[in-house]
Amino acid sequence: MCGIVGYIGAQTSSTAQEVVLSGLERLEYRGYDSAGVAVLDGECVAMRKRAGRVADLRAVLAEEPLAQSPAAIGHTRWATHGIPSDRNSHPHLSADGRVAIVHNGIIENAPQLRNDLIAQGIEFASDTDSEVIAHMLGKAVAERGDLTQAMLGVVARLEGSFAVVATYAGQPDRLVGARRNSPLVVGLGDEENFFGSDVVAFVGRTKEAMAVGQDQIVTLTAHEVTVTDFAGNQAHAEKFSVDWNLETAMHDGYPTFMDKEIHEQPSAVAETLRGRTTPDGHLKLDELRIEEYELRAIDKIIVVACGTAAYAGHVAKYAIEHWCRIPVEVELAHEFRYRDPIVTSKTLVVAISQSGETMDTLMAVRHASEQGARVLAIVNTYASTIAREADAVLYTHAGPEIAVASTKAFTAQITATYLLGLYLAQLRGNKFVDEIAGYLEELHAMPQRMEFVLEQEEQIRELARTMAEVNSVLFLGRHVGFPIALEGALKLKELAYIHAEGFAAGELKHGPIALVEDDLPIFVIAPTPRRPLLHSKVMSNIHEVIARGARAIVIAEEGDSAVDDHATAIIRVPHSTPTLMMPLVTVIPLQIFASELASVKGFDVDKPRNLAKSVTVD
Ligand code: F6R
Repeated sequence: MCGIVGYIGAQTSSTAQEVVLSGLERLEYRGYDSAGVAVLDGECVAMRKRAGRVADLRAVLAEEPLAQSPAAIGHTRWATHGIPSDRNSHPHLSADGRVAIVHNGIIENAPQLRNDLIAQGIEFASDTDSEVIAHMLGKAVAERGDLTQAMLGVVARLEGSFAVVATYAGQPDRLVGARRNSPLVVGLGDEENFFGSDVVAFVGRTKEAMAVGQDQIVTLTAHEVTVTDFAGNQAHAEKFSVDWNLETAMHDGYPTFMDKEIHEQPSAVAETLRGRTTPDGHLKLDELRIEEYELRAIDKIIVVACGTAAYAGHVAKYAIEHWCRIPVEVELAHEFRYRDPIVTSKTLVVAISQSGETMDTLMAVRHASEQGARVLAIVNTYASTIAREADAVLYTHAGPEIAVASTKAFTAQITATYLLGLYLAQLRGNKFVDEIAGYLEELHAMPQRMEFVLEQEEQIRELARTMAEVNSVLFLGRHVGFPIALEGALKLKELAYIHAEGFAAGELKHGPIALVEDDLPIFVIAPTPRRPLLHSKVMSNIHEVIARGARAIVIAEEGDSAVDDHATAIIRVPHSTPTLMMPLVTVIPLQIFASELASVKGFDVDKPRNLAKSVTVD
C-alpha cells in the first residue's frame, strides 16, 4: 500500500518532477487518497502535497510550480496512521526543511519516537507515523553530514515495516532508500536512476532493475548505486530485467484498466502456459527450485493466499486433489499463522499472490518456512518479496495488473496451479504422459474459449445496466463453480458497493434460501450436462430460487437447453469445456458484470473506495 517513486538524474531539469508524477500515476493502484512530490530547491527541499489523486496534485503544481531539480521523490498514499488530508500526505520534512522522506509501511514504535522528538523540541506537522523518520533523519544528517550514514543510524531505531526514500538538500547528487518488509526496487537508467515501490514506477524509461533486499540501504546517484546492509557492510542486490513495457501499463483505448485486463485474460493464460513443455510432450517447470525427490515425498499441500488469490487456490484444490491424490488445504494467509497449523517437512505450502508483496501472505510464507515446510510461490510480479523468500517460484505471466480488482491475475493463477498439479502428477506417476498431454491441450484451448465468452460482453453489460437499482445479488455454484460464485460476489462488493454473497448451491437449503425474495438477482454457474449428477442438482437449485420469485441469471454451456425456460438471462460458455477448466470461462461474465454495474453507478472501476492494490500492511 502506498506508492513511492524517486528519481535522480545528471542534469537539473524538469525531468525529475515529471518522471516522479507519471510514476505516481501508474502507481496509484497502490493507494490513492493523497499524493505529493518534493524537489531540491537551493538550501532546502520544496514540496507540494494534497489529499486526493495525482491529478489533483498536478493541478496544484500548475498553479504553484516547483523549482527544477536533479532529484525528486513522490508518494501516493493509502492512509494507515492519520486521516487522508493535506497535512498527512507525504513527503514529510525534517524540522530544518533540508530533508524530505516518503514512506510505505508502518512504524510500530512511532509513538515512543514521536514523544522523544517532542521532548527534544521538535514540532510535528502531521498525525502520521512516518514523520518521525523525517525528523530523525534531519537530526542525524546534521550530526553526520551524510545521508547514507544518517539512514544507517535511523533504521536501527525503527520497528515495523518500511520502504523509505529520502532526499537531502546538502547532498543534491543522491537519494537514499532503505527497506524492511515493504517493497522497494531500483531502476537503472542511463545517467539517471530510480526508486519505485515496483517496476511500474519507471517502466518505459529503463528495462534494467535491481531488487532491494530485506534490511538493505541503497544510495543512488545518477551514475552509481551502492548497497549496504543495516550494519553498513557492502551488500548484494539482485539485478533483473523488466519485460513489462509502457503500453502494458496503459489503458490502451479501453475505458478502464479493469476492462483492458478482463480482455487480456486469454493472452495472460497463454503466456502463463508458454514454453512449459519439452518436445517429447513432458511438462517442465524450469523455475522450480525444489528437488524432485522432495516434491515426490510431499504428503500435503496447503495453499495460503488472500482474497481473489485464495479463490484461485480453492479452484486449484479440486484439480490437484483429482490429478495427484494429495490432500490440499486452502487457508486464508492471515488465519494460517495464528492457528498452529500442522506443517511438516513433507508439506508443500503454495503461496499465491499477484503482487508478491501481500504482507499477510508473506508472513504465512515465513511461518511455513520456520515450521520446516517447503514453500512454492505463484506470483505475477517479478523479484517481489514473496517470490524471493519462497524456496521456489512459478511465475504467472499476466503482465502488470493495474486495476485494483484482480481479473487476469486470477485466471493466470488458476492456470499456474494447474501446471503445478500436472507437474506433480507427472513426477509422482499419478498420470500417464499422454493423459497429461491431454490436459495441457485442453488448457491451451482455453484462451480461445475465453474469447468466446468475451464476445458476449455487450449482452452482459446491458444486463448490468438494467440492474443499476438492485442492492443485493447472490451467486451460486457447485464443485469448481463454488469458488467462482465467491469470486463473483467479491468483485461486486468491491466495485459496486452492494450486498453480494456467494454460496455453494448445496448450502442454499441450510439457511441462505431465506434471503431469496421477489426479483432478487441470483447468478447460477451451471455445470456441464455431461456431469448429469452435478447438473441436475444445480437445475433443482434454479427451480427452488425461481419458485420463490428470484431472477436466475445462468452461466451455462452452449447447447444446455435445460436452462432455457427458466433463466431470466443466459450467458453461454463454450461446449466441451472440461469441468476443471470451467472456472477460466465462467468467471469472465461476473467480472464484466461487476465492472459495468460499478460504472453505471458512477463509481471508479479501477480504484474502488477504501482499497489498495497491494496490501503491504497486516
Ligand atoms: C480482489 C483483489 C484482492 C487480492 C488480494 C491478494 O479483487 O484483488 O482480493 O486478490 O488482496 O492480493 P495479491 O494477489 O497481490 O496477494
